[in-house]
Amino acid sequence: IGYDQPFRPQFHFTSLRNWLNDPNGMVYLDGEYHLFFQHNPLDKVWGNMTWGHAVSKDMLHWKQLPHAILPYAGGTIFSGTAAVDVDNTLGVQQGGNKTLVAAFTFAKQPFYQAMAYSTDRGRSFSLWNEGQAIVPNQGYDPGERDPKIFWHKPSQKWVMVLWVKQAKPGRVLFFNSEDLQNWKEVSQFDRDWVFECMDLVQLPIDGDPKNTKWLLYDASFEYEIGEFDGKTFTTDHKVYRGDYGPNYYAAQSFNNMPDGRCVSIGWMRGDNHPFLKEDMPFNQQMSFPTTMDFRTTEEGLKLYRWPVQEIESLYEETLSLGKTDLAAASAKLQTFPAELVDLSIEFAADNTTELVLYLRGEKIEYREGAFNYAGTTVPAKPIDGVVSLRVLVDRASVELFANEGAAVSTHYATFEPLNRSLGLSSKQDVRIRTLTVHRLMSAW
Ligand code: FRU
Repeated sequence: IGYDQPFRPQFHFTSLRNWLNDPNGMVYLDGEYHLFFQHNPLDKVWGNMTWGHAVSKDMLHWKQLPHAILPYAGGTIFSGTAAVDVDNTLGVQQGGNKTLVAAFTFAKQPFYQAMAYSTDRGRSFSLWNEGQAIVPNQGYDPGERDPKIFWHKPSQKWVMVLWVKQAKPGRVLFFNSEDLQNWKEVSQFDRDWVFECMDLVQLPIDGDPKNTKWLLYDASFEYEIGEFDGKTFTTDHKVYRGDYGPNYYAAQSFNNMPDGRCVSIGWMRGDNHPFLKEDMPFNQQMSFPTTMDFRTTEEGLKLYRWPVQEIESLYEETLSLGKTDLAAASAKLQTFPAELVDLSIEFAADNTTELVLYLRGEKIEYREGAFNYAGTTVPAKPIDGVVSLRVLVDRASVELFANEGAAVSTHYATFEPLNRSLGLSSKQDVRIRTLTVHRLMSAW
């Protein structure tokens, strides 16, 4: 069936056929990024959960492989994470290939956490201990799912972060292990906001890899920033929002990145897309991969997200304007129709500035210090008199990155396939600082 249907995303991951939800087991090993995903192999709606599997060398061009983990013993396979067993703590390494371990939720009441492993670079997986529990049910049903595991170097231990409790306050349990088989609870973290698919990562502050804090976020991408010593996560209780849009859910980040970056992908959950109406062979898509960093701002430490630079390899043609007025910028933009777009604009602004950006019939409005799109308000106060926006447009999505990624908003969108028009307007004479538009090639 291929990947060229009129509403099939061209630089975002979709399964070849049928339903997907959460990204699972995101990990880098030996030149390859692995993206596993909650997948219904039989239907375009949720059900029969398995781990689908795709690999890529650049997080853009994906090749879907056979399913990695299939239901067994009457239970389906829910979300989880993968990691490279660098020091062979499990003791099953074959030759020079590091073992890939995948921790997942065995979804049959009462749920428990189990593990699979691969000694052939993810080409085939075996259930550990016949798929029996590595962490047995903790008595919190119907929660207890989506284990995040990673190697914590300073304490030389594996860590598992497990969401267990739905009633408020929700609860996250932290476990330690030395061998991936025996896990011991080491702390609890109780908060109202926590719900499903926890991820915990260490991120640099202001680009300094020696100055770091930890980010803990849940499926809705609420987050707290704190310290983590391998056992306990401590914070000042301030909760933030990592995405303003309606379609970013259950994100996780790649384990074992080769270059110090932290890159996350979310499931674009929702039904405000054209896939079913237009009878696409698949349903749901992943977000574009974004790096995550902390920056010091006037409001304190904040999470910044930004599309991975690998996107540049898809640039086909570029329109680039320096300082200009709005009329001139708008006229130039109209001569540059595009379907797949990576657009960046920087303009002089104060609290009264208003501006409208038109993208293939969709309208993004800047007013009162925020971008407004499809009912969502994305805050973007002028910084030293300047506001910036970067927008990625694919066949079924719009992703907004305001003020260098300080505020991000992820959306499905339905375009007229043949509408390629771009434009700008304002009642005011807004000074454009820069405007850069890249037309993208398909990654398929
Ligand atoms: C989040 C989620 C997870 C669960 C999975 C099942 O979207 O509900 O908590 O593991 O989906 O598909």
